[in-house]
Amino acid sequence: SITHVILTGGVGSRLWPLSRKSQPKQYLEIFEGKSLFEMTVERNSHLAHKVMVVGNVENHHLSGKVMDKTKTPYINIVEATPRNTAAAIAFAAFASEPEDILIITPSDHIIDKMDDYNNAINEAISKAQEGFIVTFGIIPTKPETGYGYIESKGDKVISFREKPNETTAKDFIARGNFLWNSGMFCFKASVLLDELKQFQPDIYEKSKLVWESSKEGFLDFESSMEIPSISIDYAVMERSKKIKVVPAAFSWSDLGSFESVYDYLVSKGHEVDKSGNMVIGCDKYTAFLGLKNTIFVSTATANLILQKENSQDVKDIYCELERNN
Ligand code: GDD
Ligand code: MG
Repeated sequence: SITHVILTGGVGSRLWPLSRKSQPKQYLEIFEGKSLFEMTVERNSHLAHKVMVVGNVENHHLSGKVMDKTKTPYINIVEATPRNTAAAIAFAAFASEPEDILIITPSDHIIDKMDDYNNAINEAISKAQEGFIVTFGIIPTKPETGYGYIESKGDKVISFREKPNETTAKDFIARGNFLWNSGMFCFKASVLLDELKQFQPDIYEKSKLVWESSKEGFLDFESSMEIPSISIDYAVMERSKKIKVVPAAFSWSDLGSFESVYDYLVSKGHEVDKSGNMVIGCDKYTAFLGLKNTIFVSTATANLILQKENSQDVKDIYCELERNN
């Protein structure tokens, strides 16, 4: 059977102060009263037989509210502490039957053109049934350093490169046969676990122990802390020979950083001044002098002023604040 696995572990630290530990961005009801999490549930509801939510103790009540609102029965996996996506995906695979097909999606992406989305998922499901790990390739528009890159030829993957530096990213764009990894995956549970066991035996064994000792989906803190914190991209995608890519004709936006939020808002007609400055979250008239491509983010309790190009560094502020709390 087919299971939609929703990953909702991140706090969206690159979107501080819009996104907070107590209210991560995927739960903000900013799209006509719906959150990105709710839109993720709805988008996939007709594609899968089962839904699994992999979140954590800080947010599982927020996920639960949405699952109630949308009347979606689900399997709940509650991490005691985030251990990154390799472990989160391993838990979902351990909680499944070996032959189950898993569609892994983040909970914080904007996707449009549903016919194309459904076609891509169906194509992925059939490749997953043949034993491949399927990624979805987005045509890149700039040398973004916050994404993974898939070097491809047709549906063949030549290499997978997670988060290259800017020089490398520019080279990838110039070479023309690189796609962005969308962060969604589709595979048979047993295939992913075999690859994880081969490339990351430590993560495999420790996640297995943690899963086996879980109680009603709640995972133990102490033993979770033993699991190496590595993303699935570094742990498996960069190493596996079983990867295929399905080109994504659907429109895709990862609102992961203020730069991508900026681009998205511009495409929706949100105001920017003639020097490219933008205000987010504030109705007060705001003027910029001598500044270019500056984003002013205002919330009830905190403001952030940043140069658009520095969007990836916002997480440093978040981490600094976390340390001092
Ligand atoms: N349950 C759980 N536990 N979920 C997690 C954890 C965790 O420890 N860590 C991250 N997640 C969730 C996030 O909430 C998000 O929905 C998804 O997993 C991906 O994590 P991100 O932290 O957003 O990854 P990224 O954006 O840096 O990179 C990934 O996505 C890019 C596209 O958006 C990679 O797959 C890149 O290759 C890809 O280009
Ligand atoms: Mg992301």
